[in-house]
Amino acid sequence: MLTLLEAAHWAPSSGNNQPWRFIYARRETAEWPGLLDLLTPGNQRWAKNAAALVIFVSKTFRVATDGSRKPAYTHAFDTGAAWFSLAAQAMRLGFHAHGMEGVDRDKAMAVLGIPEGYRVEAAAAIGRIAPASTLPDDLASREAPSQRRPLSEVAFAGRFRSED
Ligand SMILES: Cc1cc2nc3c(=O)[nH]c(=O)nc-3n(C[C@H](O)[C@H](O)[C@H](O)COP(=O)(O)O)c2cc1C
Repeated sequence: MLTLLEAAHWAPSSGNNQPWRFIYARRETAEWPGLLDLLTPGNQRWAKNAAALVIFVSKTFRVATDGSRKPAYTHAFDTGAAWFSLAAQAMRLGFHAHGMEGVDRDKAMAVLGIPEGYRVEAAAAIGRIAPASTLPDDLASREAPSQRRPLSEVAFAGRFRSED
């Protein structure tokens, strides 16, 4: 867990602002039930078997020299970099990290004591990949390699190209 969080916090960020915050729990610890409970019921069904959960939070502002708050334009982009740094480190160590948008964000703000000005971005479940046969049938059937759009639909030389 320490190695994963270390990797996450070495991500690059605009102005080295480091807007990410990580709230984590390992399974079978006092913190685990509280974090698991923040996931949508659909995510709890499988994430309950993970080894650890991380909630990714970003700080949406910077404090200027005059003490005022200025929006940190890239807070979500930077925190996304931290999430993937954690995910890549997890893969390197033989684990897997599964991102989850399905988090009750309002509840997370309240339960985790996250102050105003911070945004709950997403969560991740981390563990070793188990055989699909350990999942309920409807979830097991989803365990197929995912695809991606052709690169030509998302990467453009020089100018945006709309789909229409
Ligand atoms: C930010 C983010 C949020 C996601 N939210 C969920 C989620 O709430 N529940 C879920 O089962 N999978 C979730 N996923 C997993 C994606 O559906 C999955 O990464 C995508 O379909 C591509 O599949 P792959 O990761 O196997 O390549 C999320 C992934 C990311 C990166």
